[in-house]
Amino acid sequence: MTVVSPDNRRTRRGFPPGFAWGTATAAYQIEGAVTEGGRTPSIWDTFSHTPGKVANGDTGDIALDHYRRFREDVRLMADLGLTSYRFSISWPRVQPTGRGPAAERGLDFYRELVDELLAHGITPVATLYHWDLPQELETPPIGGSAAGGWPSRDTAYRFADYAGLAAEALGDRVSTWTTLNEPWCSAFLGYGAGVHAPGRTDPADALRAAHHLNLGHGLAVGALRAALPAAAQLAVSLNLHVVRPLSERPEDLEAVRRIDAVGNRIWTGPMLKGRYDEDLLQDTAHLVDWDALVHEGDLAEISRPIDLLGLNYYNPTVVSASAPGQALPRDDGHGGGTASPWPGAEDVAFHRANDDLTAMDWPIDPTGLSDCLLAMHREFGLPLLVSENGAAFHDTVAPDGSVHDPERTAYLRGHLDAVADAIAAGADVRGYYLWSLLDNFEWAYGYDKRFGIVHVDYDTLVRTPKSSAHWYAGVIRRGGLD
Ligand code: FCB
Repeated sequence: MTVVSPDNRRTRRGFPPGFAWGTATAAYQIEGAVTEGGRTPSIWDTFSHTPGKVANGDTGDIALDHYRRFREDVRLMADLGLTSYRFSISWPRVQPTGRGPAAERGLDFYRELVDELLAHGITPVATLYHWDLPQELETPPIGGSAAGGWPSRDTAYRFADYAGLAAEALGDRVSTWTTLNEPWCSAFLGYGAGVHAPGRTDPADALRAAHHLNLGHGLAVGALRAALPAAAQLAVSLNLHVVRPLSERPEDLEAVRRIDAVGNRIWTGPMLKGRYDEDLLQDTAHLVDWDALVHEGDLAEISRPIDLLGLNYYNPTVVSASAPGQALPRDDGHGGGTASPWPGAEDVAFHRANDDLTAMDWPIDPTGLSDCLLAMHREFGLPLLVSENGAAFHDTVAPDGSVHDPERTAYLRGHLDAVADAIAAGADVRGYYLWSLLDNFEWAYGYDKRFGIVHVDYDTLVRTPKSSAHWYAGVIRRGGLD
């Protein structure tokens, strides 16, 4: 069974029959059990154990212990009526050290998880890479072979091998796959701003990482197609930046162009059009030699056709040119690092779209989601998934143990309405994956930021559905919004 339905008749408030009502999670954010079954450290294990990198010194060592409690978590999903679940596979769990044969014990965990989902009528969607690169591909052990993480071309080939192993093991029961989650974050937060693992701050390496993530995606699509049945649905999940100008002044429109180039078109160009746009190459030519970086045949490899485009959307971005002599505001929502995640566009100024903020200080504006869905629909014509959308708020547990989170419900209602608007305007949206099922390890913010519709008590690991979970269950039951 796939998450997509060819039947596009509209029902309640614009959601077609077969629309996937899901939630999304990622391995390092929930699994824990970091040394179980031969798993080796990922770059996130190393980063989170480096003092000062993650709030409160939090790590994913235990996380939600989903590795042992997955049956309880699938039962929660079934109780909510979810029809689909997007999870990620931990690369160092299924292929420790990032090379060589698969670890059967690691694969068994995902086989059992998927079987449990299927037994409850929940369609699995597997993401191959949600940021947990095996550490040994970033820095090899002394005397080991060359590594260097995503700035190194070899990592793209390692990724494709891993994709093939995962597909061979799970392809009989998972038919929808996403290659990369938000490669922008991997490249530019990981190697540019340094606020994500591995914490490097070199703009040239960030651009090299971007190209090798693109190449890894294309090679993985090839490996997946070779291992999976013909009906398999392949996707990528991009956090496309909905970039708006502060004013219509030409300098501000130019700032939009630059952020759109290095934030969005650096992925959609090669993946969906088989090219890097000339303006992007020019903006960054002083940082990397693109002719040496992009080998002959790369763009054909990267642009192998996919079936679905996944969009992760949280908030819009407002930009302007910086005025000479003015302090540069970088309120781009991506942490307080001093290095920029915008190579070649470091002087662009970022502004909040409005003051209606989540606990991440991300402005709430659902129109960005409909704009993005429609823009992608018009430009590429591909079926779309909202592969992530959700919000962190300062939830509190009431004396009776319940968690009432009306702000999250309002956020979700507004954004589902925006999805319905996009569908009404012609976008072929096949599913919505709410971020996230459970409160979890929110990367550099640790456990401070709660995105779940299910509350997790981090002392006892007890899970409690919040009022937003009950609301979402009602939406799913009714097949849409009232
Ligand atoms: C996205 C990530 C996801 C989570 C949400 C809040 O960028 O893909 O893991 O951190 O943001």
